[in-house]
Amino acid sequence: MLNTHHIARTLQRFACLSAALLASAVGAQVAPVATEQRVMEIVESRCALCHGREGVSSSPIYPRLAAQHPDYLLKQLQDFREKRRKSDTMSDMVKGMKDEEFRGLVAWFSSRKPAFRQPSDTDLAEVGKYIFTKGNPFSGVPACASCHGPNGHGTQQLPRLAGQHPVYLESQLKDFGDRERTNDNAVMHSVASKLTALEVHAVAVFIGGLQ
Ligand code: HEC
Ligand code: HEC
Repeated sequence: MLNTHHIARTLQRFACLSAALLASAVGAQVAPVATEQRVMEIVESRCALCHGREGVSSSPIYPRLAAQHPDYLLKQLQDFREKRRKSDTMSDMVKGMKDEEFRGLVAWFSSRKPAFRQPSDTDLAEVGKYIFTKGNPFSGVPACASCHGPNGHGTQQLPRLAGQHPVYLESQLKDFGDRERTNDNAVMHSVASKLTALEVHAVAVFIGGLQ
């Protein structure tokens, strides 16, 4: 038998549920993004110097951001801001920035055209290709392609590598190996710590030439 108390409780639960649904619908609708004007102001005044306006950095020590996956980029920016990923340069750059500015920056850079550079040392690139597609079964290095994709294009959560500057790639592989890359390094530490110096160099050169 239904008593009024029971009915009141049911109604109350329903009200809570609708409020929660409404809140999540509103939340999903309006993840705020800074205005285009504000975003371009930041790109030109703060990011372009090192990463290029189009995300194609001129110096090989700075990563290319063009065509990188938005979720990955957003997470890196948040990690630099919270100092989970250690880089004094980048933490200074994004200090005090809001998520809505990050979302705008990420939308800009992820939609730029990627670049690549044909390796000049083709023998080295062949060694790199072997590591990339097959790994090194003798030392237990897994194929990079098994996670980053056959052409290094990555996935929503996993970074694109194709066309990245070899010098930057080498520095990150070294940092993963030494756990100097401080955020989410578990998987890549187990990969990078098994690579020899020659393998690191070769795979980086090969990846830099992937389109
Ligand atoms: C003074 C040079 C400099 C400036 C200016 C700069 N960056 Fe960086 N950025 C770097 C360096 C160096 C790294 C690599 C850090 C490391 O070794 O982990 C980096 C890394 C990044 C990464 C990580 C990329 C990846 O593949 O993991 C992102 C994203 C990024 N920067 C975005 C930005 C944005 C957005 C701006 C503008 C607000 C900016 N940077 C300004 C030097 C700079
Ligand atoms: C088991 C899956 C897996 C394999 C195999 C793998 N990676 Fe990764 N890699 C990841 C993940 C996950 C990340 C992202 C870490 C993060 O979120 O910060 C990553 C990140 C990277 C980065 C950083 C990219 C950037 O823009 O800073 C580089 C460089 C990289 N991997 C190179 C390689 C190379 C080279 C190989 C092969 C020798 C390889 N990976 C094999 C999962 C993998």
